[in-house]
Amino acid sequence: MSRLPNVEEVIAWAREAGHLLMQGLGRAHDIRYKSLTDPVTEMDRASEALLIQRIRAAFPDHTIITEESGTLGQGDAACWYIDPLDGTVNYAHGLPIFAVSVAFVQDGIPQVGVVYDPSREECFYAVRGAGAYLNGKPIYPSTTAELIRSLLVTGFPYDMSGREPDNLDLYAHFARRSQGVRRLGSAALDLCYVAAGRLDGYWEMGVAPWDIAAALVIAAEAGVVVTRLTGEPDPLRLPCSLLAANPALYPHLLAEVRAVIGADGVPTISVCGDDGRGAHAAKPTA
Ligand code: IPD
Ligand code: CA
Ligand code: CA
Repeated sequence: MSRLPNVEEVIAWAREAGHLLMQGLGRAHDIRYKSLTDPVTEMDRASEALLIQRIRAAFPDHTIITEESGTLGQGDAACWYIDPLDGTVNYAHGLPIFAVSVAFVQDGIPQVGVVYDPSREECFYAVRGAGAYLNGKPIYPSTTAELIRSLLVTGFPYDMSGREPDNLDLYAHFARRSQGVRRLGSAALDLCYVAAGRLDGYWEMGVAPWDIAAALVIAAEAGVVVTRLTGEPDPLRLPCSLLAANPALYPHLLAEVRAVIGADGVPTISVCGDDGRGAHAAKPTA
């Protein structure tokens, strides 16, 4: 069995990938489409290749679950989830809201998470049981307890066609009852910003495991309550969904979500198939 990863080395890899991305920011890109609306640039691939190389060199027997290259290796006891560029649409437009996300997960539980935002040189990281940090300083969620005073964030899957109700229902509901709902375009940063108290709550129903695995350990270590959208544990379980907020606000968000999508809370849209790679599953009808 190989050694456990050290957070400092994971930070170094994420920084390297982030610096690579910065070299391409604002330039013309070779954009391909994985589906009608799901883009990938040459920089997603370059960043991913770099991360895979670094992880493989250090941990040749670990599985790596990637957004662009699929699953490399077998077994899920020791595995990595990498999103080489979370916020591809922003990046492709030259909008500097994106991050590199790298997580080490042991037996299904995220242990080490690093989310690096190279535009702001902000590195969020955590090791399970050892607190959460931003550039070396501990981070904590906000204490905002009232929904009407809260600043929320959400995200949407690439394919939003044809399924009702969808996240637009929740978006409208919370937009009318909060100080605002942001849509930043990077799930990893959304969750890290809740961990750092910049935003009070976050929900999303169309995320993939590589979007959130690293930020999950960061948020949990900071003291954010993080569950599936239904309030159940384990947001990484497929199909992934997420509800996260500071502890005072969380119960109010959950009550509102249940009021909108029903007590069963089965998300009607998911981008995670059984293997976590982009199948679109609808809520089964009776
Ligand atoms: C996307 C972003 C976005 C979220 C989407 C993700 P990508 O990841 O995290 O905020 O709403 O569901 O797919 O494609 O930019 O890596
Ligand atoms: Ca992503
Ligand atoms: Ca990505």
